Amino acid sequence: MKKILNRPIKIIMLLLNLIIGGFCFSLISQERSALIGEGITIYYPNNYQSVFHEPSFALVQEPIEQGDLPEDRNISVAFDSIQGKSIATINVGEEVDFYGTGEVTGELLRNGKVRTLWNTDNYGYMRYHALQLYQSHPWVMGVRSDGTAIGVLADNTWKQRIVLDDKISFESEGPAFRVIVIQKKDPAELLHALADLTGHMPLPPLWSLGYQQCRWSYYPDSRVREIADTFRLKKIPCDVIWMDIHYMEGYRIFTFSEEYFPNPVGLNNYLHAKDFKSIWMIDPGVKYDEDYFIYKSGTDKDVWVKNAQGEDFVGDVWPGPCVFPDFTQQKTQKWWASQYKDYLATGIDGVWNDMNEPSVFNGPGWTMPVDNMHLGDEILPKASHERYHNVYGMLMVKSSREGILAAIPEKRPFILTRSNFLGGQRYAATWTGDNLAIWDHLKTSIPMVLNFGLSGQPCSGPDIGGFGGNATPELYGQWIATGVFYPFSRSHTAEGTNNQEPWAFGEEIEQVSRTAISRRYRLLPYLYTLFYKASQTGMPVMQPVFFADFKDESLRSEDEAFLLGSDLLIIPKWATEPSLPEGNWRTVSLVGEDSKNDAYQPEIKIREGAIVPLTSIIQNTTSYKLDTITLLVSLDEQEKARGELYYDEGEGFGYQEGMYKLFELKAEKNNDKLSVSVSGIQGKMEIAPFNIKVEWITDEPAKKSIASGEIVLDVNQ
Ligand code: GLC
Repeated sequence: MKKILNRPIKIIMLLLNLIIGGFCFSLISQERSALIGEGITIYYPNNYQSVFHEPSFALVQEPIEQGDLPEDRNISVAFDSIQGKSIATINVGEEVDFYGTGEVTGELLRNGKVRTLWNTDNYGYMRYHALQLYQSHPWVMGVRSDGTAIGVLADNTWKQRIVLDDKISFESEGPAFRVIVIQKKDPAELLHALADLTGHMPLPPLWSLGYQQCRWSYYPDSRVREIADTFRLKKIPCDVIWMDIHYMEGYRIFTFSEEYFPNPVGLNNYLHAKDFKSIWMIDPGVKYDEDYFIYKSGTDKDVWVKNAQGEDFVGDVWPGPCVFPDFTQQKTQKWWASQYKDYLATGIDGVWNDMNEPSVFNGPGWTMPVDNMHLGDEILPKASHERYHNVYGMLMVKSSREGILAAIPEKRPFILTRSNFLGGQRYAATWTGDNLAIWDHLKTSIPMVLNFGLSGQPCSGPDIGGFGGNATPELYGQWIATGVFYPFSRSHTAEGTNNQEPWAFGEEIEQVSRTAISRRYRLLPYLYTLFYKASQTGMPVMQPVFFADFKDESLRSEDEAFLLGSDLLIIPKWATEPSLPEGNWRTVSLVGEDSKNDAYQPEIKIREGAIVPLTSIIQNTTSYKLDTITLLVSLDEQEKARGELYYDEGEGFGYQEGMYKLFELKAEKNNDKLSVSVSGIQGKMEIAPFNIKVEWITDEPAKKSIASGEIVLDVNQ
C-alpha cells in the first residue's frame, strides 16, 4: 500500500533548501507498508535494500506480511534522506509520553530527549554527556493519555540518533531502514508484542535471582573463600561470588593464574559445598601472544576482525595488544563457543562477558575503527565495523550462550553482558556498566532499570554501591536497601576502591544489608513467579508506578518509587514526594522490620486484592522449598484477593516439558473468616501436599494476623 507524503509540505521544504543552499536534500516517499500482526505494521522506504539490514538482529524471524493496513491509522511514517543520513519520522498524532530507548541515564520520561546509539565504554557515564552508553535499543515506547500504547522499532544496527520531540525520529548514518510500529490497548500488551517480535528472555536459573557479590577483583582464591565464609558466618544471604580479571594469567581469557588461582576446580568445589555459585569473566579481546593457545587456535582458523588493509586488527585492552574475534562468521562463533567446554568443566556456573562494545583503549572513541572489516559468510554479509559495531556484543553473547549450552546442555546458561542490542535479552542479562559511588547514580539506576524493562530487557541492575570511587556508609546502606529489588542484584566496585561487602561499612550498615538481602530472599517465590511471567509475556520484573494504572497521568514521570511485579510498591527512603497509585496499598513487613520508621529500608506496600507468596528467611536459593510458603493476603473492597505462584526445579529445561507448577492463589472473607485456596492450574510436576502459612494484612489497628479459617490445598488440581 502506497502512502504519498503531503505534497505542498514537500515542495516548501525543497524550496527552503534551495534557498538555504549547500544541502544535499531529498525527500523520499514511503514505498510500502504491511500488517505483520495484530496492530503491528511494517514500513519500508522506497530505497530499502535488504542486503544492508537482513537478517535482522532485533527480530527473531522475518516478519510475515498479512495484508494491507486498515485505512484509519492515526499515525504517519515518513522516510527522508538528508545530508547522507537516513531518517524515519513517526508522527504519533497527539501528545504521547515516551519511554524506552534502552540504556539511558536521567529521567524515566524520555520526551525532549536525544539518544545516540553507538555502543560505548563509558566509565562513570562521563563520556558524550552520557548520551551514548554500552548498549543500543532502537526502540521507543509511547503511552497516550487514555493509556493506549504505541511502540516504534527501527530495524537498523548502524549508528543512529533517536530524537524525541512531539514526534519520534530515527536519524541513521547508514542506509535506509525499515520501521515497525506496534499499537496496543496498553503498555503490557505492547511489551508482549515486543517480546514476540524480538524474543523472550529465557527463564534464568533460580540461583541467579539470589544476591551476588563482586569486586574487581577478589584475589587470590583464598580471598574468595574468605568472602564466601563471611557471608555464611554473618548470616547474610548470598548465592554468587564473581571472579573479575585477576583470576586470569596476564588477562588471557580462558586461562587461570598459576599464582592466584592455581586450582579453579578446588575453588568451585569449595563454593558449591557452601551453596554458592561462581561467575567468571570472559572478555572478547584475545592477547596478541604467539605462545598463547587461544591466540594460536584463533589465528589458525583465521577468526580475527581485520583492519582496512585486510590484516588482523590489533588494539589495546587489559592484556595490552589484543585481537578480536569476528563473530559475524559462523566459523568464529563455533570456535568461540567451543572454548567453553574445558573452561566450564572446572565447575564454573555462569559467565560474565565484558568490554564487548568492543572496548579498545587506543581506538577512536574507545573502540575499533569504523573501517575495520567483518568478513561474514553466507548468513551475514561482509561489511565494515560501522554496520556491525552495535551488535558486536550481541553476537558475542549469542556465541557464548551456544557454547555454554553445548558444554552443559542440562543447565540454564547464565550470562551477564555489558554490551548488547535490542533483542539481546534472548542471550544475556545485563548490568548498567561503570557507574560511580554517588547519589545521582543510585537515583538514576531506577529509571535505567525501568527503561531497560520497557525496552525488552527484564533482567538488569547497576553495580550496587557504585563502581568508581568509594561509597560512604550512608550511600551503601541506601543503595543495598533499594538494590535488593533490582531484577539483577549485585554489589560491585572497581580496582583500588575500599572494600564494599555488606559488612565493610560498620555494624549498622551490616545489619541494614542483612535485613535488606533477607527481604529479597523472603520474596523469592514471588520474584521467581515474576521472572517466569517476564519470560512468557515480556512484562518487566521491575515496573514503573504508572503500570498500576495506565490511565493515571499523574504517575507517568514517577521514577523514584517503583513496582515489583504488579502487586508490590517499593518506596525508597530517599524518594521525595513520590506520586503513588490510588487504592488501599497496605504496608507490609517481611523480616520483622518496621520500614515506616527505618532510615534505610524502603517501604513495601501490597496492592489490595493481591496475594504475595513468600519463603522463610533462607541463606541461599538452594534452601528454597515449597513447604516454607507464606501467603501475604490483602483483600480488596469485595473482600477477595488473588495471586499466582510458579514453581519448578529451579534449573534445567524440564519446565519446557511441563515439569513445573503454576498455582492460583485465592482468598475470600466469609463471616470474619478467611478462606484461602491454593490450586495447581498449569504444569504436570507432581507436588506433595505442603503446609502454608497465611498472613492477613489488614488496616489498623490489627496490621497483620495469622488467618483463622479454612485453607484448601489442591496442589495437583
Ligand atoms: C570494566 C567492567 C567492570 C570490571 C572491569 C575489570 O570496567 O565494566 O565491571 O570490573 O572492567 O574487569
